[in-house]
Amino acid sequence: MQLVAYANRLPVTRGRHGWRPSAGGVVSALRPALEPRESSWIGWDGGAGDLPRRVEGLDVELLPVRLSRREVDDYYHGFANRTLWPLLHGLVEQPVFERRWWRAYRDVNERFAAVEVDGGGLRWVHDYHLMLVPSLLRRAHAGPIGFFLHVPFPPPEIYARLPWREQLLDGLLGADLVSFQTETYRDNFVRTCARLREHVRVEGQTIALGRRRVRTAAHPISIDAAALAEGARSAATERSLRGLRTQFGSRRILLGVDRLDYTKGIIERLRAIEYLLAERPELRGRLAFVQIAVPSRGEVREYRELRRNVEELVGRINGRFTDPGGDVPVHYLYRGLPPERLLAYYRLADVCLVTPLADGMNLVAKEFVTAQAAGGGNGALVLSEFTGAAVELRDALRCNPFDLEGLAATIEHALALDEGDRRRRIERMAADVARHDVYWWTEQELAAARKARSAA
Ligand code: UDP
Ligand code: G6P
Repeated sequence: MQLVAYANRLPVTRGRHGWRPSAGGVVSALRPALEPRESSWIGWDGGAGDLPRRVEGLDVELLPVRLSRREVDDYYHGFANRTLWPLLHGLVEQPVFERRWWRAYRDVNERFAAVEVDGGGLRWVHDYHLMLVPSLLRRAHAGPIGFFLHVPFPPPEIYARLPWREQLLDGLLGADLVSFQTETYRDNFVRTCARLREHVRVEGQTIALGRRRVRTAAHPISIDAAALAEGARSAATERSLRGLRTQFGSRRILLGVDRLDYTKGIIERLRAIEYLLAERPELRGRLAFVQIAVPSRGEVREYRELRRNVEELVGRINGRFTDPGGDVPVHYLYRGLPPERLLAYYRLADVCLVTPLADGMNLVAKEFVTAQAAGGGNGALVLSEFTGAAVELRDALRCNPFDLEGLAATIEHALALDEGDRRRRIERMAADVARHDVYWWTEQELAAARKARSAA
């Protein structure tokens, strides 16, 4: 069956040698579904007027949506990143409500839905940028429509603060299938529909609107585990790893890998490390914390403030705990890394700290356990209970990132864990990720969307 994906960004980046497929989460997640069949991807062209219809290395037709500077400000920086992002992540920051942003969001969603595509097939809409698109598509499209939310869906009492709460729910309810990362987010959505939409009837996990039925599902997104494991063992990764081992010597390595986003708990993680170094002087000089912070959404005020706060804290910790002539405890990298370098860090780490305050899934956690197991490693994973990944990765050391002393104690525990125990945990988690990889996720999603339509 033909497949048309809708996502805010198109899956291509312009490099020095022209256009190429982008790295990263959503692209690697959708590729296995799109490439084996006739497929198109509708997305914002990022301001590039000269985007080709096809890019080498990606067998998908690209259908660009052009946005003006003002639309990017109001729809993307404004409504998507300053209204919906903090609201859906359970108010870890205050959402900002502006009518002008809402109008732009509605207009841009209409533009996405209006892109003409030849043929029928499944329409597969992704994430919080495009929550109105399912109902807009339903007006003209006879085939099945699926929606997948990559971020959390909060409980009704939080969602209810949104001035346009009914409109967005009705937008989603235009789909035949609305899917989430976890059962909790799905339940939150179903309860929210029951509470805020009087005309719907909730029948278990299905929402009935007159004679139509909207199914809901929980399908945790994942990674291409086999490809990642192969990359983790490649000659380029091994070379990079040897270099890092020489640089860091016998120090034990704590690792954080995140977009520089306030949902990721980077400040809380740094404070816990500062506390640990203050309380346990014997660890000083024997630990290095590497934080890879990928630049993100720098046009948004909250993100610029976060960057300032993180950099100030890194400076404070390094100022406090560096011996003259010695190495700093925190190695802060404000940039994205090439794949083999990132994989080398995953393999190098003794402990990976994945401590978000809220996160739909968190693929870094799945990548870390897969890379460790592929390299025969026995690193420990400290994982926030507020991530979707915590539902599946039961052998991680769970943490509550809001509890600074508790987090510091969990990091200490991770460092002290017996080697055999660590190895068994990593192997069990990697086996689970390999079984529930992105191909499995794709099958679940596509089968459920088709079934939802035939039963509707
Ligand atoms: N990542 C990357 N380059 C880097 C660091 C990370 O491409 O230098 C990728 C990482 O491999 C992962 C993604 O960014 O696939 C982050 O996904 P995650 O689900 O953890 O968080 P998100 O950024 O989607 O909130
Ligand atoms: C999260 C969202 C994605 C988004 C990504 C990067 O993973 O769920 O939809 O693409 O962050 O954010 P950006 O705003 O740079 O696209």
